[in-house]
Amino acid sequence: MADFRKYVVYEIYPKSFCDSNGDGFGDLRGVTGKLDYIQKLGVDYIWLTPFFVSPQRDNGYDVEDYYRIDSRYGAMGDFEEMVSEAAKRGIRVMLDMVFNHTSDRHQWFQKALAGDEAYKDFYIFRKGKEPGVPPTNWESKFGGSAWEYVEKFDEYYLHLFDVSQPDLNWDNPKVRREVQKVIRFWMAKGVKGFRFDVVNLISKGKFEDDFEGDGRRFYTDGPNIHKYLQELNAVTFGTDAEIITVGEMSSTSMENCFRYASEDGMELSMVFNFHHLKVDFMGNEKWVLVPADFQKLKNSLFSWQEGMAEHHAWNAVFWCNHDQPRVVSRFGDEGRYWKESAKMLATMIHCLRGTPYIYQGEELGMTNPNFTDISQYRDVESINHFRILQEKGLSEADAYRILQIHSRDSGRTPMQWTGGKSGGFTEGEPWIEVNQNCDRINAAQQLSDEHSIFHYYRKLIALRKTYDVIAMGNIEPLARRDPAVFAYRRTWEEEELLVICNFYGRDVTWDGDGTYLPKKLREDGYERILGNYEDWRMEGDIFALRPYEAIVLYRKRK
Ligand code: GLC
Repeated sequence: MADFRKYVVYEIYPKSFCDSNGDGFGDLRGVTGKLDYIQKLGVDYIWLTPFFVSPQRDNGYDVEDYYRIDSRYGAMGDFEEMVSEAAKRGIRVMLDMVFNHTSDRHQWFQKALAGDEAYKDFYIFRKGKEPGVPPTNWESKFGGSAWEYVEKFDEYYLHLFDVSQPDLNWDNPKVRREVQKVIRFWMAKGVKGFRFDVVNLISKGKFEDDFEGDGRRFYTDGPNIHKYLQELNAVTFGTDAEIITVGEMSSTSMENCFRYASEDGMELSMVFNFHHLKVDFMGNEKWVLVPADFQKLKNSLFSWQEGMAEHHAWNAVFWCNHDQPRVVSRFGDEGRYWKESAKMLATMIHCLRGTPYIYQGEELGMTNPNFTDISQYRDVESINHFRILQEKGLSEADAYRILQIHSRDSGRTPMQWTGGKSGGFTEGEPWIEVNQNCDRINAAQQLSDEHSIFHYYRKLIALRKTYDVIAMGNIEPLARRDPAVFAYRRTWEEEELLVICNFYGRDVTWDGDGTYLPKKLREDGYERILGNYEDWRMEGDIFALRPYEAIVLYRKRK
């Protein structure tokens, strides 16, 4: 099995990464042109979000043809060139497979709509409960009912996401065989990784009304989910020991993740879960303004760290992706402590047990754009919720505030390469506005500044390769109840690592849980191997941490 414990993955949202032909959309040649930059960072994998033929209602997560590349992104030759150029630099390619649903423009769905029974069975069509009433009261994750009426059949089809994204029927073996074919096709092209989109939603359970929630308890981690993943593994990616896989697990439970990502390798290499990112939600509701709850964040990260380790299962660890706002805006400080907070957040995540994922621009400390007009937004979810929030009675100003904090577009503004026009992303008109701070936050500046956030990420990645304890070690949470400090200890054979982070923009002290006292640590032979302040204060019996300070201490016992 590939030793993904030492790997770091870099996520690319191709549409916003680099535009090589001036049409305002990023493309595959743009990615190839930036491979040197990615290599400098030191990552092992690039994960590209979908670039297949798609009407782009959900930016490519609505796939019309799994075998063809959308001409906006380039052609098959461009893809092959990207894979081989990446390989020359020791970088492998991970693709994003969206198999919970297709686009309504996919030929399977078109045939279904035309009345072909065999293809109708590729999707989930059901009679309404009574005239005008959908089969269940489930809500779509993008707002509104999860069912769409088709008059011709007097039936509804299920769409957990946008109405243009009908859910596939995995209980139909023909669907499973088609999915397997797609994976083999891309494996033959040299792809060495797969990310499976919302994959824990593919096995639907009972179709019943949900009077407690939005319906998710009936289809999340559903009845046959483990069986379907094991089958997929056995006949596709499981046959190549170099391939790594990650499942995006929506509202999952830890018990299920023990199995999805067990080290026995029967299902997937690792999982994304989002519990630690719901700390500024109200329950599962994200379209609200709630301050981040640090204790909740800590409990969530630690319980997953300990639980997964205890059950020999593996996590992906991350703050950002194309569905999340920028982490420095979310949990750090865009202003005075921008640099310190971005580095602290990076330290916190990268030294945990798991495979770190970096989302494009995170390594530069990119921030939310804080758009002020709905015309600046592109994301279907944000646009739907802007309307829904106002229908619920919120003022337009409040709806904007919520969008600025939670919109997925916050993570989708173009990569800031230079301080020039459109941040060096395109010569043309970008499909979504470039953040105005690109004159201050950009790759060109950070590459030439050894104290930049970019170089700090580079060091963190290098540390994982140098010290086995980071990749392999056990985890022991520290400072569990401390209101400001996030700290943990990692151990592996003779190696020990202590990671101490001040999560806030003020001076704080930490008593080392009565055991890890700075002076003693120094005497015991610990050295600081990384930190976001120049000097190292290791005097006395208490840690005096500066705003957003992060320290990584290491020793090898003799
Ligand atoms: C995943 C993707 C997201 C997409 C959704 C539906 O959550 O990350 O971008 O909208 O699935 O495919």
